[in-house]
Amino acid sequence: MKKFLIAGNWKMNTNVYEAVELAKHIVHGVSTRNIADKVQVLICPPNTNLDAVHRELKDSKTILGAQNCHYEDKGAFTGEVSPNMLKQFDCEYVIIGHSERRQYFNETSELTNKKVIAALNHEIKPILCIGESLEQRQNGSTFNVLAEQLEVGLKNYPKDKIANLVIAYEPVWAIGTGVSATTEQVVETHLFIREKLCSILGDNAKDIFILYGGSLNPNNAQEILSSNNVDGGLIGGASLKHDQFLAIIDYAISI
Ligand code: PGA
Repeated sequence: MKKFLIAGNWKMNTNVYEAVELAKHIVHGVSTRNIADKVQVLICPPNTNLDAVHRELKDSKTILGAQNCHYEDKGAFTGEVSPNMLKQFDCEYVIIGHSERRQYFNETSELTNKKVIAALNHEIKPILCIGESLEQRQNGSTFNVLAEQLEVGLKNYPKDKIANLVIAYEPVWAIGTGVSATTEQVVETHLFIREKLCSILGDNAKDIFILYGGSLNPNNAQEILSSNNVDGGLIGGASLKHDQFLAIIDYAISI
């Protein structure tokens, strides 16, 4: 039986009222479904809404995550938030190296590596995002790009913490465009990622969750989630509409 992680990345959306409303719908929807050991549901609101959403999730089966963190515990880093600050709200996961952070905030693979290690040190599970741009896919460098993002991003990753690692493959050209990768592309790329993880971290990497992200929605979820080496989804746009997010969860339950 396959187990899935279905994660909502709310990005820079929702004020505190909207966040609570959305969280309420998701908590209720999840409580009326038999997710048992099949699906872990995770939502990642903006930092300003972590406290309020954390309260909504109390005693529920939905867990909380953040979208980014700094690698230091504290200090003169204006505007940043540290892993131990996230821990105050029981964040179980943190998204690291999302392509929007790489693209708009110049995050390098070296920086994602520091953040991955910092998150682990605070018992927060990192979701390391990797993905190629359209140009990179078209000029045939996809696998080189992904290899660099994994090799550098996972440098010195402790082998006894493999169970805490999640990878999200998110082709940049599929994010927010309404055009997801094809099933063939997903299967081929996830297999490459699986093999690369095993070569970096050893055989136990066969159990690492590899999520797909990029215009995942109720129309393509069943096919993509059924693919080999796809262990869940990182969902942006469709995670802001509770009915769509819950519909994706339903597909995950049914597989
Ligand atoms: P999308 O975003 O589902 O809106 O394409 C996914 C993501 O960026 O994590």
